[in-house]
Amino acid sequence: MPPVLAKLSIEHLCVAFNDEMPAIGDVSLQVADGEFVAIVGPSGCGKSTLLKVVAGLQAARSGTVKVARAAPSDPEPKIGFMFQRDTLLPWATVTSNISVGCELSGLPKEKHAERIASLISLVRLQGYENHYPAALSGGMRQRVSLARLLAFEPDIYLMDEPFGALDYQTKIVMGRELLRIWEASRRSIVFVTHDIEEAVALADRVIVMGARPGRIVASHDVVFERPRDPRSLRGDPRFGALVQTIWSELAIAD
Ligand SMILES: Nc1ncnc2c1ncn2[C@@H]1O[C@H](COP(=O)(O)OP(=O)(O)O)[C@@H](O)[C@H]1O
Ligand SMILES: [Mg+2]
Repeated sequence: MPPVLAKLSIEHLCVAFNDEMPAIGDVSLQVADGEFVAIVGPSGCGKSTLLKVVAGLQAARSGTVKVARAAPSDPEPKIGFMFQRDTLLPWATVTSNISVGCELSGLPKEKHAERIASLISLVRLQGYENHYPAALSGGMRQRVSLARLLAFEPDIYLMDEPFGALDYQTKIVMGRELLRIWEASRRSIVFVTHDIEEAVALADRVIVMGARPGRIVASHDVVFERPRDPRSLRGDPRFGALVQTIWSELAIAD
C-alpha cells in the first residue's frame, strides 16, 4: 500500500485563553488526504477552537499544526472554513457571492462565469443566480456558502456545524448533497457537529472529544461502503450500535 499522506497534522496542541484550565489540552490528530473526519463533543469542549487554530484564526499555547500544500509551488495551503451561520454578503447576488470564492482562488477573471455556472448547477441553485441571500431559505443560503467554498478550491475544508441551524429534513438533504460533492472530489474535510447520527452517516472516522480540558476521548472508523445514502444507513443495525457507543462515550466524557 502507498503511504497515506497526512493533509492535516496536529501534534500535542494546547490552547489556553487564560491561566485556568486550557480550552484544549494535549490534542494530536492526523487527517489523511481525502479523508472525511467528523468531530463530536459536548458544547464548550473546544471543537470550534480547534478548527480556528487550524485556520490560523486562533493562536496555540504549544504544539504544532501543519496543513500540507497541494503543490510545492503553492505559497501556503488554502484552508476553507464554513460556519453554522452563513457569512454571505447580503448586498450581493448568489452569483456575486460565489465569485468571491473564485477571486480568492486566483482563477482568471474570464473563467469565472463558467465556473460559477457549473457550481450553481452542482449545488442545485439554477434559477436563483440573481437572488439576494435575504430571498433564500436557510438551506439555500448554505448551498451558496458551499458553492463559494468550493470555488475557493481549498486544500482542506473546515466545517463548523455547517448544517446545525437547519431543520431536520433540510439537514439530512444537505448531508446527502455534501457527500455527493465530496465523493466526486475527495478533499479532506474536518466536520464539527453535535449530531452523532450526522457524524456517523457522513464521515470515514468520528473523533469524540471531552471537555475540561478539551481532549480526544475516542476515535471510530466508520466502515459503511461508499457511495452512501445517509437516509438508508440510519436503518442499519451497525449504524445504531455505533451511535449508541458514541453516546455512552460522550456521557462519560461530559
Ligand atoms: N475567544 C475566547 N476567549 C475566551 N474563552 C474562549 C474563547 N473562545 C472560546 N473560549 C472558551 O473555550 C472553550 C471552548 O470553546 P469552543 O471551542 O467554542 O467550544 P465548542 O465549539 O466545542 O462548543 C469554552 O470554554 C469557551 O468558553
Ligand atoms: Mg462550537
